Amino acid sequence: MRVDLSTAASLINSGNVIAVPTETVYGLAASIKDQEAVQNIFELKGRPLVNPLIIHVADLETVYSYAITIPPQFEELAAVFWPGPLTMILPINPALVPSIVRAGLPTAAFRIPSMPVTRELLKLTGPLVMPSANKSGKPSSTCIEHVENDFGKKFPVLEGLKSEQGVESTILIYEEGVWHIARLGALSQEQLTNVLGYSPAIISNQSHSIVPVCPGQLFRHYAPRARLVLREESIPSEEIACIIGFKERDYPFNKPVLILGSLESPEEVAQNLYAILRQLDLDQIESAWIDMSFPHTGLWVTIRERLTRAAE
Ligand code: TXA
Ligand code: MG
Repeated sequence: MRVDLSTAASLINSGNVIAVPTETVYGLAASIKDQEAVQNIFELKGRPLVNPLIIHVADLETVYSYAITIPPQFEELAAVFWPGPLTMILPINPALVPSIVRAGLPTAAFRIPSMPVTRELLKLTGPLVMPSANKSGKPSSTCIEHVENDFGKKFPVLEGLKSEQGVESTILIYEEGVWHIARLGALSQEQLTNVLGYSPAIISNQSHSIVPVCPGQLFRHYAPRARLVLREESIPSEEIACIIGFKERDYPFNKPVLILGSLESPEEVAQNLYAILRQLDLDQIESAWIDMSFPHTGLWVTIRERLTRAAE
């Protein structure tokens, strides 16, 4: 059910969970002050309680009010990328952030989103926790129809645009004197390097003994029901029900081809990614061959990571 801004704000302010568009993906929003509503988010998504939530705020002052230390270059990162698809993990005053939000950690994740309607909502409600608006383990939602598919047509969704980034925010954590990428996302490693002056390491699932990993990275993610076969080359065999590929390429195969977008535009591919993965479930497709022959730089790295996770 589509709701306008003032209805959305009063639903949240009276303890409800609603879906909210952001420029990355849609979120399931509850007020940080309402523990019952926050609990409800975990139940609605089927999300493990050990997986903490991102706190979305309207301005930098609100972040400072929760944080107990501000790491070097935080201000520069915030100045360049906020509002926008960057999340930063900071040590917080535990008295101010309910334990359920941060899964008992001494830190919390913060983001100032850029979609105008999201920012207007935040001004009316105060800080909102928002995980992606999908069932745990499934592809995120990038438009209202995706949210309706997962949570039903009666579920309230704030009216807004399609998510223009199409993949989640990039998450940074400061440990041992440097920033690390805890989750790759809409911002590439190169974009962060330009601001930091060094290339932040990407924490892989395996390397979490060095730095505490972003808990969400440990779980299954972005996965449709279909079996996904990722290939850099080799023509798919007849056992595969469809191909996911690029508009510039010809695939010598007489099965349906789902087009991610152009090899010239990783932005377009990121924007379409979850819609294509969701299409597999809608069409009850059992298997798909994915053309992984694309660059290993910039936003393509995030796209490759999401497809790889989806196939796990
Ligand atoms: O783009 C986005 O970030 C979207 C939109 C709605 O803002 N939100 C999103 O939330 O992707 P979610 O819950 O799907 O992913 C949040 C990730 C999880 O992997 C979680 O483990 C990690 O952030 N996280 C949150 N708080 C953390 C903390 N204190 N320390 C480490 N990781 C944290
Ligand atoms: Mg998610």
